[in-house]
Amino acid sequence: MVFTKKRDIGLFHVFIVFILNWTGVYGSWEEWWTYDGISGPDYWGLLNPEWKLCSRGRRQSPIDIEPALLLYDPALSKVHVDETKVNGTLTNTGHSVRLVLDTVGGAGVSIKGGPLSYPYSAHSLLLHYGRTDDKGSEHTLAGHAFPAELQILGYNHHLYENMSEAMSKTQGVIGIAVMFQISEASSPDLHLLTSQLEKIIHKGQSASVSHLSLRSLLPDTSQFMTYEGSTTVPGCHETVTWILLNRPLYITKAEIFQLRRLMQGDEKHPKTALGNNFRPPQPLYNRSVRTNVFNHDIENKKCLNSRKLFYKGNVGSIQWME
Ligand SMILES: *[C@@H]1O[C@H](CO)[C@@H](O)[C@H](O)[C@H]1NC(C)=O
Ligand SMILES: *[C@@H]1O[C@H](CO)[C@@H](O)[C@H](O)[C@H]1NC(C)=O
Ligand SMILES: *[C@@H]1O[C@H](CO)[C@@H](O)[C@H](O)[C@H]1NC(C)=O
Repeated sequence: MVFTKKRDIGLFHVFIVFILNWTGVYGSWEEWWTYDGISGPDYWGLLNPEWKLCSRGRRQSPIDIEPALLLYDPALSKVHVDETKVNGTLTNTGHSVRLVLDTVGGAGVSIKGGPLSYPYSAHSLLLHYGRTDDKGSEHTLAGHAFPAELQILGYNHHLYENMSEAMSKTQGVIGIAVMFQISEASSPDLHLLTSQLEKIIHKGQSASVSHLSLRSLLPDTSQFMTYEGSTTVPGCHETVTWILLNRPLYITKAEIFQLRRLMQGDEKHPKTALGNNFRPPQPLYNRSVRTNVFNHDIENKKCLNSRKLFYKGNVGSIQWME
């Protein structure tokens, strides 16, 4: 009897290994998660023991930024992003639109300053966006979501060899997040990416992007908010220092329409449209969110310290004074 049981377990094991190898044909186990249903964000932590931080972690991302809880930190210096132009490969991953930067040719784009104790190298860009304008961003501001969010991920090259090593290690990753607002015009730098979208309608399709400057892609501001969090996809590693820039990027209706044409599946099985690929905000659990935003309101000679957030939510601009 015991013998039979052992044999059953053995067969079950063989079956699982078979399934895993078989999924290898299409991709990896890494891809067995989604943004909705029974493999959605609420279940990521249960799908794979290696992803338990997704459900049990207390330093998770994204979060809702509550302006009233921001702490001004005079020790925060400016964030520096290299101007270097880089090439990369834009891919529809089935989960997101991702640009992985070329590493050949050396240079790379370095990111330092701000809250960072180490220099980081930009590794990739990710786009999260909604199928409708009222949602799409992962981070939210005073409860308001934006139609899309750009994330630039980099790894600590002072301590680690590459992104895959840094991902799970202390102080491993930097994430720069910028919210999108829909506008009449966008930027030529964003157009370098959006002009390639028609080539990556289906999962697995790629297109090359060249001469992209991350610095000029980013909005022109030195103001940011920062906190310690996690990657926003499984395994939800709590290794990411997030920097949220205090200005939006602009995207046109036509460009966001292009994004919404992308599909989650490949050409044979397109499945449904990509989009709504955001993880909902996670509890803060007593973490602090720091900012370098601090303007003296000299004009009115009120000696008030006013701090302004430039993002506009769905219900008008968010500003506050104290
Ligand atoms: C980027 O790609 C262009 C061609 O598209 C090439 O001329 C250039 O040398 C590449 N730059 C780097 C740093 O690889
Ligand atoms: C990343 O670096 C680690 C440690 O040096 C190495 O074992 C691994 O093969 C590297 N991975 C990639 C994808 O280069
Ligand atoms: C976390 O903050 C809550 C209030 O938001 C407080 O009641 C609780 O004691 C704090 N926990 C720790 C561990 O500081």
